Amino acid sequence: EKGGYDHFMLKEIHEQPKAYRDTMGSRINADGSKIVLDEIRMTEDQIRSIRNIHVVACGTAYHAGLVGKSVIERLARVPVEADVASEYRYRSPIITKDTLVVVVSQSGETADTLAALREAKRQGARVLAITNVVGSSVAREADDVIITWAGPEIAVASTKAYTSQLIAFYLFGLYLAEVLGTIEAADLRKTIAALQELPEQVENILQQSAKMESFAKQIAAHNSLFFIGRGLDFAIAQEGSLKLKEISYIHSEAYAAGELKHGTLALIEEGVPVIALAAQEELLEKTLSNIKEVKARGAYVIGIGLEGNEELSEFVDAAIYLPRTLSLLTPALSVIPLQLLAYYASLAKGNDVDKPRNLAKSVTVE
Ligand code: F6R
Repeated sequence: EKGGYDHFMLKEIHEQPKAYRDTMGSRINADGSKIVLDEIRMTEDQIRSIRNIHVVACGTAYHAGLVGKSVIERLARVPVEADVASEYRYRSPIITKDTLVVVVSQSGETADTLAALREAKRQGARVLAITNVVGSSVAREADDVIITWAGPEIAVASTKAYTSQLIAFYLFGLYLAEVLGTIEAADLRKTIAALQELPEQVENILQQSAKMESFAKQIAAHNSLFFIGRGLDFAIAQEGSLKLKEISYIHSEAYAAGELKHGTLALIEEGVPVIALAAQEELLEKTLSNIKEVKARGAYVIGIGLEGNEELSEFVDAAIYLPRTLSLLTPALSVIPLQLLAYYASLAKGNDVDKPRNLAKSVTVE
């Protein structure tokens, strides 16, 4: 049942190239010039009347929402807020009939997310669900549904469902941009072509697993570490930190790299591991200066950068390089090494990787 892998999590990590292909599937037309989201029943007029978008989800799905916020804002120029579902309902969000609420849920049964969906509908918003389970509560109650075709996810720690959610956001963001006329035909083609390259690029990263395994063994001896990054790298830092905590039980924090010097830098001392995400090329200079700040305090830095930016190695103790893609698409690659890091750290500590303590796969209580 684990297809030759030791754990479901590792199997699911390796299923990501297929999950990307299946989620894109027939949603890209034959000549790669157009996004086809036949399942969306929202009319073009309804799309044009959207004034703001709220993305609401829990845990890892919320982290996909953080990427989704940037994707939609950059591509479609519609203001987006992302909230965790358990906070959303109680902060009196400003919802109108021109608000689109996007709920993201692998299981489609998460109680907080479902409650947020119901509240949004009660207040007259249109709801789009991004979910992995056809016929789930969230899928049934939403006005529109984009199914992520990741296939069943068994490990408690979400991997392929998360990355398929990213793909769903790219497709939806491009679709909105097409309808709203905020993307040039040439840019659309370029982005679609880059999307279609992702599965093979993920395969390339998976071939570097041994490197992540050795980093994991190094960090497994530590009590606490940090993930830092800017922009989309910060969203991935948050996901990497959650994944690590969840299955390795090592404490970690994700920090926007530029925020460190406003307090957290005080925690950096000799030998503290820092995982520095530096995959946003336009922010590289700034991130490098933050890496220097932690290095100067004795941190042991593992950098994650893009091929072609190997100067990163001069600033860090160890590095891993990702194949090049568009800046907007890097999250679909940069999270893969972090999933492997969490997996191998959990393994090194002898934990039950697929069933971490205190957690359930589907959280049906608020
Ligand atoms: C972490 C994880 C959880 C879920 C969260 C929401 O690896 O899996 O954080 O993402 O409980 O679950 P769904 O997506 O089913 O609503």
